[in-house]
Amino acid sequence: ASTPGLFRAKLTAESATMRFAEGLDTPILGYNGTSPGPLIEAVEGDRVEITFANRIPDEASTIHWHGMPVPADQDGNPMDPVATGIDRTYSFDLPEGSAGSYWYHPHPHGKTAEQVYRGLAGAFVVKPKVDPIPAAYGDTVLVFTDLRLAADGTLPGNTMVDLMNGRVGDHVLVNGQKNPALTVPFGTKRRFRLYNATNARFLRLSFDGAPITIIGTDGGLLEAPVAADDILLSPAERLDLIVSFDKPGPVTLYTLDYDRGWMGAGRPADAGLTLLTAHVSQTPAEPVPPLPDMLRPIARLDAPSVSRRFVFTETMAMNANGMEMGFLINGATFDMNRVDTVAKAGEVELWEIVNKADMDHPFHVHGTQFQVVEYERGGKVRKPAYRAWKDTVNVARGETVRLLLRQDRPGPRMYHCHILEHEQLGMMGIVDVQ
Ligand code: C2O
Ligand code: CU
Ligand code: CU
Repeated sequence: ASTPGLFRAKLTAESATMRFAEGLDTPILGYNGTSPGPLIEAVEGDRVEITFANRIPDEASTIHWHGMPVPADQDGNPMDPVATGIDRTYSFDLPEGSAGSYWYHPHPHGKTAEQVYRGLAGAFVVKPKVDPIPAAYGDTVLVFTDLRLAADGTLPGNTMVDLMNGRVGDHVLVNGQKNPALTVPFGTKRRFRLYNATNARFLRLSFDGAPITIIGTDGGLLEAPVAADDILLSPAERLDLIVSFDKPGPVTLYTLDYDRGWMGAGRPADAGLTLLTAHVSQTPAEPVPPLPDMLRPIARLDAPSVSRRFVFTETMAMNANGMEMGFLINGATFDMNRVDTVAKAGEVELWEIVNKADMDHPFHVHGTQFQVVEYERGGKVRKPAYRAWKDTVNVARGETVRLLLRQDRPGPRMYHCHILEHEQLGMMGIVDVQ
């Protein structure tokens, strides 16, 4: 009993300033002047028309709809740049069942890492027509970004260490703010959608003393809620959580240590950063409905018609410019004019992602959601804790991840490491879906 809606918006990528440190204006790039960009909320079934105005001085850009089931020619591929000063409209339909926590960011050839780091990223939430999660829990989007500031407040350029490991900033921001506060009554539950929109920072997180329940991943709800002590969000991953605030007092969302394999000097502190503080008041909450036991069915992808292997390696070579790093998939770096893999639309495939490198590489593929089947490391096979739709999965160093996926729409799609400096250095390939 619903007529599809038309969702329209305009996103202008432009120079802006934000204040992250006392008295210092930091020049950034923002969508509509802010970083992160505006939260986009549409409903499954909607037709989406978003006009992108590229006003970045002297640089081409695109908008890529990370994780979303959009046609290849609407997905902001590096082969479809939008020159500075130009407007282009992206249009696509959000199919039934596509509700999930997606995001949008630029994907121009050779410039993605830089443009995202300078501030271009935003959340795109697709809501279901009927949400099994009680509305009383709210629905709060938390977009994590990070940055490093020079003494004058500007964003410094990349160092060798940044290129090797991906650029990790010292300040982790939540929706563009440092350690924002919120107030909740005690005895209530809140829903949070967590987005790792950093270029390269792995976030292992916990809410001190407040129980976490995972209800969803990149591509929407799980079949059933799963309790967790802490969570790991590698770059580009998202989680949909319910947090129970059971006693009064402050509760913080903070980072724990996670060793993602750091090369060279200057490994940043992972642990002990407070990202968010919830002040749980003495006033008890109005009773909220319980979380349902079942959220939605997820049909298992099955019977792959082909299996493919993607091997991640790193190389280091000395040349006239000093040490040069190479980040390779199946021995090659990205070439926009080369198709690496040809796939058939509508067929299930088994992809094996083999990480032979010294650091973790979060693997992402465009245009679809996949199901992780298993992880293998040192001869030990581990199954995921739950069946889920994902578009990004961390492949730890020395690990192999097997996943099942199906591309339903024809056209070229990127797959790559979502440490964006690695993507920029060539750890990316093209699957052409026919
Ligand atoms: Cu977040 Cu190629 O994408
Ligand atoms: Cu993507
Ligand atoms: Cu990588």
